[in-house]
Amino acid sequence: MPEKDLPWLVEKGDALISNTDPDFTDHVLDKLTTDDYRMMPFNSPAGAELYNYATELMDAKDAAGDTDGILHLIRQPAEDGSVISENEFRNFFCLLVAAGNDTTRYSISAGIHAMCVQPELLSQLQEAGLQGDIWKTAPDEIIRWASPAVYFRRTATRDHQMHGKTIREGDKVLYWFVSGNRDDTAFEKPFHVDLQRSPNRHLAFGQGGPHLCLGMWLARLEVRVLFQELANRISQIKAAGDHKFVRSNFVGGLKELPISIRLN
Ligand code: HEM
Repeated sequence: MPEKDLPWLVEKGDALISNTDPDFTDHVLDKLTTDDYRMMPFNSPAGAELYNYATELMDAKDAAGDTDGILHLIRQPAEDGSVISENEFRNFFCLLVAAGNDTTRYSISAGIHAMCVQPELLSQLQEAGLQGDIWKTAPDEIIRWASPAVYFRRTATRDHQMHGKTIREGDKVLYWFVSGNRDDTAFEKPFHVDLQRSPNRHLAFGQGGPHLCLGMWLARLEVRVLFQELANRISQIKAAGDHKFVRSNFVGGLKELPISIRLN
């Protein structure tokens, strides 16, 4: 995508996912009717804009004979000759814009907030140095702690017994990643950030199955690089005012976090 469009895509990704927060959209889901957009992702006008953007972008690329990049690849026939429909493509485009936007940002802000609450985290990262083993575990712990995707909903394809309850085929089931990630039968001291936590079978990216997060390695890399660069540059980080969470039960994270830092 053209570099100049990235701020617009971030804005639309936020409006789409944070469709219940007036700081991110004028079209707040529970404040006014969204019926006009009921066939659009997240019932959002931003979904319609992203759909149109995707089509116009690909038309322009086709006209220019531009076959570079994954968007072109996605539209090529599979081995059996099948292709995805225009709407599937537009939907997947929206998914990519949204999925890689606020999730990594909220992971980073949760990690920074954790550093303000647990000041030892910064020194642990610094003592380890850039090659330290802590960088193998820290990104996952920050992402567990953040759990930016709060829950997803799936439909049971068969009956299933769980903790003495029966989920029936066809039942719509919410799974709360954020709750699983605070489960004290799975994590020792789950409300504590332990950058060396291992094993760390957190649920923030889902856990197995065909829909496991496609971007999880990129997300880990982004978080690692950000905190490596930060730890390398500062000697102190402190909260400098009240923080604010996004107004949503679907995505969770800090949208405001005033801090003060001391540079090296
Ligand atoms: C810390 C950051 C992230 C978190 C917490 C996160 C979380 C999730 C979760 C919970 C799912 C659903 C898993 C399931 O239903 O089993 C998912 C799916 C997905 N994620 Fe992420 N994600 C993150 C970053 C990214 C990034 C950076 C990208 C791409 C640029 C991305 C792309 C996707 C896509 C395309 C799917 C759908 C996969 C499918 O349905 O087959 N995610 N993510």
